Amino acid sequence: MTTTQTKLTIKESIAVIEMCRPPVNALGEILRDEIKAHIDACENNPDVKAMVLASNAPIFSAGADISEFKTGFKGASLASIQEALEQSKKITVALINQKSLGGASEIAVACHYRVCDEKAYIGFPEVSLGLIPGAGGTQRLPRLVPFKVALEMMLSGKPISAAMALESGLVDHVTSSEHLREEGLAFVAKLLQDKSPTKPTCQQSVKVEDAQNADWASVAEPLMKQMAKRVGPTAPKACFDAVMNALDKPFIEGLKEEQALFFKAILSQESQALQYAFFAQRQASKQAESISAQDLVVPKKVGVIGAGLMGGGIAMVMANAGLEVHVIDMSQPNLDKGLEKIKDNYAISVKHGKLSQADMDARLAHIHGSIFMADLNACDLVIEAVFEDMDLKKQIFAELCNNCPKDTILATNTSALDVNEIASVVVNPERVLGLHFFSPAQVTHLLEVVRGEKTSDAVMDAMLIFAKKIKKTAVVVGVCPGFVGNRLMFKYLKQVNEMIMSGVAPSRIDAIMKDFGFPMGPCLMCDMVGLDLGWQANRAPKDPRDVLCQAGRLGQKTKAGFYDYPKDIRHPEESNEANELLKSFAKSAGVKQESLTDLEILERCIFALVNEGFKVLAEGIVARPSDIDVIYLFGYGFPPYKGGPMYFAESFGLQKVLEVIGAFHVRYGDFWKPAPLLVQMVQENKRLKDWSTVSAD
Ligand code: 3HC
Repeated sequence: MTTTQTKLTIKESIAVIEMCRPPVNALGEILRDEIKAHIDACENNPDVKAMVLASNAPIFSAGADISEFKTGFKGASLASIQEALEQSKKITVALINQKSLGGASEIAVACHYRVCDEKAYIGFPEVSLGLIPGAGGTQRLPRLVPFKVALEMMLSGKPISAAMALESGLVDHVTSSEHLREEGLAFVAKLLQDKSPTKPTCQQSVKVEDAQNADWASVAEPLMKQMAKRVGPTAPKACFDAVMNALDKPFIEGLKEEQALFFKAILSQESQALQYAFFAQRQASKQAESISAQDLVVPKKVGVIGAGLMGGGIAMVMANAGLEVHVIDMSQPNLDKGLEKIKDNYAISVKHGKLSQADMDARLAHIHGSIFMADLNACDLVIEAVFEDMDLKKQIFAELCNNCPKDTILATNTSALDVNEIASVVVNPERVLGLHFFSPAQVTHLLEVVRGEKTSDAVMDAMLIFAKKIKKTAVVVGVCPGFVGNRLMFKYLKQVNEMIMSGVAPSRIDAIMKDFGFPMGPCLMCDMVGLDLGWQANRAPKDPRDVLCQAGRLGQKTKAGFYDYPKDIRHPEESNEANELLKSFAKSAGVKQESLTDLEILERCIFALVNEGFKVLAEGIVARPSDIDVIYLFGYGFPPYKGGPMYFAESFGLQKVLEVIGAFHVRYGDFWKPAPLLVQMVQENKRLKDWSTVSAD
């Protein structure tokens, strides 16, 4: 048989079926067909006593090929592969390297035995895509590991380590990472030698252990609630129902119901949005294909200028990724304070059990500091993270030219200033770009990679690879005030201000946005960030934030902002004082009070983002609409199961979006002038993916 994605070798009665579809062995039609054909051939081959499913790619497999969810499944099914392995008269073994996810783990649990290397992770992440394991996982996993472990793995989507897999019974043997193949095959040879039985998982009983009478709904509830915030309620509930079937229904019946729940989930709006987001995230950070890997210098040593909140957070990001980082600040006391804050942040993680003391020490050992620019001369990348002052930034970049080699990549973490102007003082401006981290940098996933007009492709590509290394979701954006994330956010907050001025309570706006799926509403977010950002004390108040600042209500840091925080910042309370201040300000400004419906409030917030999104797109600040979505999903808390503002607009219907924006334009004036690209797309009946094909003016 000619094969393209697999390789079969038979030696000493053991057949090894290798999956060869890098990078992740996604189980697409061809791969499934070939695996199935090999299994059938081996089953009928009297020389074969054991079949081993292994991988020739960097990981065992990422599971079902998600791109097939749109086109439909053809060829051999995962179920047919599993049945063939499970019912085989030969011993069947999965040999798992590095990672096994989703459908691949479902194949593994249908094998009679499983071996993995010590660094491997095994998981069922389907819930993160708004799905449930749909190839028998919900019925087989609880037959191998304690029921609670199975339930938690599937509801959380989190993979477990090799050590935990061994302890729970998910794998039978763990090998060293270097010698998985040899040690794994030796394990199989021993199984044959010992005449070990074939062990169909489906014939085993569910492992409820001592928790026979547990109230599983209560056990699952916190996890289901937590997941629902990210993926919506459908998948966690379906997952729970499917796994519960393993407890009280025969295997075959459980499988049938799993299938029905899987296909229902796959069609849900939540899952469609999450599948879209999966590919959008990867698309956003793709490098230009023209650049060859050898031309790229991916930084190993990073300099950070400024030991404040952002600089400290960025230094932590580097240390967390195992990179050497040198922080500098203008004065020793500032530097000491910054380094101390980094230590405190790590100590909190240790206290909460999220980091071991040894890991904290190792990370701190990567962070160095001084007050001399010259100490950055061995860095491949320097990130400037001082406050937003153009003159100061230009002075720093000019100094960097004198202190660093000509090819050191120079980045600014500005959140709004003109990267081209900063680059103008640099001798080789093609190495200058923006790396816009989002506060707290060590937590927030998003990184806007800002391409200046002179930034070279090689620098951009090196930064995209670098972003992956430091575990950030990168999106390439062009230069404009606020780039993409903040530029859209200004519009959203402008609407929030206007609605407050027209008499809507901040807590009502927050409740509506939280209900939509944001982790917090805009007013609480402003309290958290600090209302005084950009506030000028000597200027007459222009908006609600100014009014609150004038009254000393700067947000959570003063325990008073839009809300009061009498207990602590985690417990905001409605503030009569703030509400009164806002009402009297609106009155003195003569703003007409109006009553708005919840839907109008929601639309004013979301469509302010969308209208600006179309402008950003038309200006070429992003390459595609989905980049805007990725920014909002990974940096601004837009609910993932709604796909991002642009995706949401398309699901709502672009025609309807335009009608609503048009009506706001008539009612509220120029702010709401519909973006010309939106108008044109509606006129030409275009889908977002075809946005670039609208006719030229
Ligand atoms: N299907 C199709 N393509 C996939 C894929 C999958 N399951 N997993 C990854 N890919 C693709 C990516 O789109 C990317 O393609 P590109 O290079 O063209 O952009 C390429 O593989 C590499 O992926 P990453 O950039 O994500 O590589 P990383 O090394 O950062 O991460 C990973 C690897 C951890 C495997 C990550 O890709 C991942 O989490 N994949 C999804 C895993 C998953 O959710 N599996 C469940 C699928 S649903 C299922 O199995 C249903 C079953 O129950 C019936």
